[in-house]
Order: sequence, then C-alpha cells, then structure tokens
Amino acid sequence: MKILVVGGGGREHAIIRKLKENKEIEKIYALPGNGGIAADAECVAIGAKEIDKIVAFAKENAIDYAVVAPDDPLVLGAVDALSAIGIPCFGPAKNAAILEGSKVFSKNLMKKYDIPTAKYEVFSDAKAAIQYLDTAPIPTVVKADGLALGKGVIIAFTRAEAVAAVRSIMEDKQFGESGNNIVIEEFLEGPEVSVLSFTDGKTVVPMISSMDHKRAGDNDTGLNTGGMGTIAPNPYYTDEIAKECMEKIFLPTIKAMNAEGRTFKGCLYFGLMLTKDGPKVIEYNCRFGDPETQVVLPLLESDLLTVMMATTNGTLSETEVKFSDGAAACVIAASKGYPEKYASGFEITLPKDLEGEVYVAGAKLEGEKLLTAGGRVLGVTATADTLKNAIKKAYAELEKVKFDNMYYRTDIGQRALKAKEN
Ligand code: AMP
Ligand code: GLY
Repeated sequence: MKILVVGGGGREHAIIRKLKENKEIEKIYALPGNGGIAADAECVAIGAKEIDKIVAFAKENAIDYAVVAPDDPLVLGAVDALSAIGIPCFGPAKNAAILEGSKVFSKNLMKKYDIPTAKYEVFSDAKAAIQYLDTAPIPTVVKADGLALGKGVIIAFTRAEAVAAVRSIMEDKQFGESGNNIVIEEFLEGPEVSVLSFTDGKTVVPMISSMDHKRAGDNDTGLNTGGMGTIAPNPYYTDEIAKECMEKIFLPTIKAMNAEGRTFKGCLYFGLMLTKDGPKVIEYNCRFGDPETQVVLPLLESDLLTVMMATTNGTLSETEVKFSDGAAACVIAASKGYPEKYASGFEITLPKDLEGEVYVAGAKLEGEKLLTAGGRVLGVTATADTLKNAIKKAYAELEKVKFDNMYYRTDIGQRALKAKEN
C-alpha cells in the first residue's frame, strides 16, 4: 500500500513511525515532512495547505490511503478534496472540522446539546465586547474564533488586560480574519487532561489520556507554546472521570455533530478541565494533538492503519484498539528563545544507540547533516512500566542529543507524579 501523510512536525513523525509497523505499507510520502522525517518517509515539497497540489500528487502516485494530520488542511477541506477523487482519508470533512475551526461554532454546539463547558458570550463588535467587560467576572478568557496557531487564547487577570486582548484581536487583527468574532468565557480552574479519540461517527474510542505542558518555562512559567512535553496516562483522569466524560461529553458530542448533519470521523481531541463541578470542555481539536501524539501512539498496541481505516469505513465498533498498561513521557528540545525569536541552522547530533524514539519537529537536511530549523526541534519519547521510569528514561536519552542553543523544560511530568502520590 502507498500512504500519504499531510504535515511536517513531530506529530506526523510519530504517526509515520507507528504506521510503519504495518508490513503491508510499502511506501509513505510526507507532504512536506521535514529533515528528520526523511529517514522514515519520502518527503515531498508540497505544503500542508496546498490542497490542489496534494490532490494532484495523490492522484499521480496512486495513493491508497491519506492521513491529513494538521488543523489547517482539515479546516480547508483536504479530506473532501481527496475523497472526491476516490482516495480514502483519515480525518474529518470540512463541515465537521469546524468543531476546531470555529470556537463560536463549538461553543454554540455545546450550549445547544448541553455539553459541559465554560459559560460564554460571543461578539462580532469590539465596542459591545468592551462594554460587556465592564461587568464580566475577572479573570476572564478572550478567544479568537478561528485558527490562530494555538495562540488565539488570552487569559486576562485584569479588566485592562481583557480590553487590550479584545482590541488586539478585533481591531489590530493580531490573528487576521480569525479575530472577526470572539468568544469571552468564564475562567475555569482544575487539572487539564487531553483525551484523543478515534471515531467513525458512530462509535467513539478514547485513546490513553495525556497531559501537555504548554508553558515555555519550568513550573508552568513563561509564555504559552505549542507544547514543551507530554506524559501518558494522565493520573488525574481516573476510571470514574473517564466514565463521566464518555456519558456527558464524548458520546453527546458525536451525536450532536450527527444531528447537525456534520458527522465527525477521524481523531477528535477533547481538551478537558477537571473542575470542582465536574469535567468541562476547554476546546475541541479535529486532529491528533502535538505533542500528545508522541506519547499516545507509542503506547498503542493495535495496528494504527487498521484503526484509522476503520474510522473511515465505519467499522470501528468491530476493530480492536488496545493500549499498553505502561506509561510514556516526551520531552521537547526547542531552540532557545522559542516561542519568540530564536536562531536556527545548528547541527543536530543523534547517537545511533538511543533507546526511545526521537520525533523530529523542526529540522532540515543539508547533505548528510541534520540542522535545526524551527522553534520546537525534536521530542524524545521513552516508554516504561511506570510514569516515573518513563520520565527518567526520556531525560536520560535527551542528554545524548546535542545541538547548539538547545533548551528544554526539566520538570515534564513532575506535577503528574505528585498527583499520583496523593
Ligand atoms: P486552547 O488554545 O483553547 O487550548 O487554550 C489554551 C490554554 O488556555 C488551555 O490549555 C488552558 O490552559 C487555557 N484556557 C482556555 N480556556 C480556558 C478557560 N475557560 N479557563 C481557564 N483556562 C483556559
Ligand atoms: N497540544 C495541544 C494541541 O495539539 O493543540
């Protein structure tokens, strides 16, 4: 079989490595991939948003199955375009990807179908939003409606900060057209859990739970990033909470999307907060999380391609999806300065005898040399019998990886370990 994977980050690298365990796959193309992915797939210089070129490539190369991993092409309709020429795909159609593509849509959906989430108001006019902030409870959360590279959420601890957020999103168009509409919502508190799930629109199968570490610095300080590390499973997510989430959030979401004529297939990511009033949805993503995928897929014991195809074919209820009882940790090595300014182009040294997986996010090949080419450069994942051992191993392996300007958090998983002790 010939497989095409759209995307070029650490998440796509983890997906490709897992797919490669299936011996029926003879070829994987990554569009565009990256210098590290090139060791596992043939990288083709077509961008993830170049839908017409992706479709033409898939047709010319007689692709049997396509995996569309990032949010942008999903929201732009890559799955619809590939399906239209008869290429089966993993991922939601455009009318379902809106669940991530528009926060106004997802908030209204949750309200309509009684799915627990933060209370909110929607605004299309900055003046009205600012007026509302006069009396809104503080802290408050201001969110751009559309995709904003994970940066469209501002938590305001004062009224002045909230007003500044509204102005920068709606008037200065900090996130472009994504900020034409905004959501202002209630500030929630509690541990966060990421639950990725497979769904064929009828059945929903949650994957092992995980925890992201979004802030750049140790002890959750500094700016928000795309994610500096992950662990799985998330100790806060007990069996009891999982059951409650299935009944009150996961199944109702699948049903709601069907009722709206927007059947969701692929990976539906539930970003949850475990509040004192129960689990609530912070956000939906219409795709695998990054870097959650880097800890979730190494623990998947079933064949990934088989499960993915079952979501496309509507046969998920008959398909085994099994995860190991162990744990995984992924530590991201970034370029110093990320998520702001950083230098690139430094040679990456990867020893041959690494135990664990190195998933490359931002690197390019120059001849035989692998050079840094991004904020997040790579992630080192280790699996073990316990979370503690997985974390220890991931850091030990990371010590063997070298590049100039390397920066990483030293506390990935520590909060989770403490939660386990309590
Ligand atoms: P998002 O881009 O929607 O994942 O939001 C980024 C981060 O902002 C989340 O992971 C939460 O930590 C935080 N966040 C989003 N919405 C809320 C909320 N209503 N209350 C508290 N924190 C929030
Ligand atoms: N790790 C969060 C995300 O993928 O959006």
